Amino acid sequence: MTTLDGKALAAKIKARVREEAVKLPRRPGLAVVLVGNDPASRVYVTSKRKDCEECGFYSEEYALLESATQEELLELVETLNGREDIDGILVQLPLPAQLDEETVIQAIDPEKDVDGFHPMNAGALLIGRPGFLPCTPAGVMDLLDEYGVDPAGKRAVVVGRSNIVGKPMALLLLRRNATVTVCHSRTPDLAEHCRQADILVAAVGRQGLITGDMVKQGAVVVDVAMNRDDNGKLCGDVDFAAAAERAAYLTPVPGGVGPMTRAALMENTLLAAKRRQNLA
Ligand code: GUN
Repeated sequence: MTTLDGKALAAKIKARVREEAVKLPRRPGLAVVLVGNDPASRVYVTSKRKDCEECGFYSEEYALLESATQEELLELVETLNGREDIDGILVQLPLPAQLDEETVIQAIDPEKDVDGFHPMNAGALLIGRPGFLPCTPAGVMDLLDEYGVDPAGKRAVVVGRSNIVGKPMALLLLRRNATVTVCHSRTPDLAEHCRQADILVAAVGRQGLITGDMVKQGAVVVDVAMNRDDNGKLCGDVDFAAAAERAAYLTPVPGGVGPMTRAALMENTLLAAKRRQNLA
């Protein structure tokens, strides 16, 4: 079994991004907006700041109160849309209950939507036009490519159908000529579907969901989830030890998909900066 080392590849990608970024007439700028006090979100925002430093980007952080209003957040997004030096805008999700995520996402200039969540970018992915790809599925594809895993002609099973991961993941695998099945909470006999998978992507967020017997011999298994086990340790959806007995390739948690998501955000921000300087 080969471990798909996302940490190592992410470091390589960020070094490459930096090389390009420092050559631009104006360095890429990313604005990260955090609303409220979600501890996981705080950790993500801090790591994005570090990534920006590593890549030679300009970055700004906005911390809004848990009680922030929709108007307040939309006004900030509008200001950032108009800023010449800001190429990417990321509003950290989830948002507090009084805020409407859809409205906020749609307010972001699609040219600065480095999360790839705006309907324009989601639509571009659907019909195969250029846009911004959501970072986690884009990072997974980078990881598969690095290890020479070609999805063409393979059976791919994606477990989870979120707008952020499951759906775009399925579309990217389809674009690369895999035969794709999307499973979800209402799928009868999940195990039977998973056992057919040459490429299995788990993106649900439930520890222990994918057991060893659900992994086909020689499969490529990608675990997107970030759960906390009873001891507070990070873990994925896949029983790693059991899956390792059968899989040919397997991502660890942590150190697999997580760092790749962050690297993809840096790649998207670089791309946004190049496009906005008419260099891509
Ligand atoms: N929350 C969890 N993952 C993400 C992500 O990729 N982007 C944003 N904006 N929020 C998230």
